[in-house]
Amino acid sequence: MGKGIFITFEGIDGCGKSTQLNMTKEWLINSGYDVLQIREPGGTVVGEKIRGILLDKKNDSMVPLAELLLYGAARAQITEEVIKPALLEGKVVISDRFFDSTYAYQGHARELGDELVNNLNLVATNNLEPDVTILLDIDPNEALKRRLGRGEEEDRLEALGTSFQEKVREGYLKLAGNVSRVKVTDASKTPDEIQAQIRSYISESLGV
Ligand code: TMP
Repeated sequence: MGKGIFITFEGIDGCGKSTQLNMTKEWLINSGYDVLQIREPGGTVVGEKIRGILLDKKNDSMVPLAELLLYGAARAQITEEVIKPALLEGKVVISDRFFDSTYAYQGHARELGDELVNNLNLVATNNLEPDVTILLDIDPNEALKRRLGRGEEEDRLEALGTSFQEKVREGYLKLAGNVSRVKVTDASKTPDEIQAQIRSYISESLGV
């Protein structure tokens, strides 16, 4: 797709994605790239409304298939409205989550299955895939401690607890074992150590 570069960040809740996304963005900008930072679900007017529905703890009756389709709907919107045009303009798009989240959360942890999720993911993005994906891997108990330390209120998926996050982690590691664009990074290290590893993965994969 175009001449841009598409980089995604993945991991369980509380893995430290936001810090690393910001550090990576700064590095890429200082290296002369035109960078667009986005997040999923969200990033568009329609997508932010869908995000509200997905994360609202009051929606505890939502069935897994509805959840899957809503994530897909938000992704279809941001892919067409934001990501594809930016890549065509030659930008580096860095995204806080993309369709590998759906693989790990809905496909693996919600047990909707790889085939359904992989097919739907490609339909939602019209076959757009990231060039490289950074997976921040961390023990769910450690991630929970961090989230509590930041005093964040938990959303609908976080409220499912560490056993759910453990299944999500398992899904991500399975994916990383099968898909070479997914680069596993030990997120229990210091932010600077993690960032150094991320930069080396991005440089290696994309020559930036
Ligand atoms: P976040 O902005 O804190 O990462 O919140 C997004 C939540 O939605 C998080 O718990 C992960 C979850 N999620 C899915 O379950 N499937 C998806 O496809 C995406 C993008 C996110």
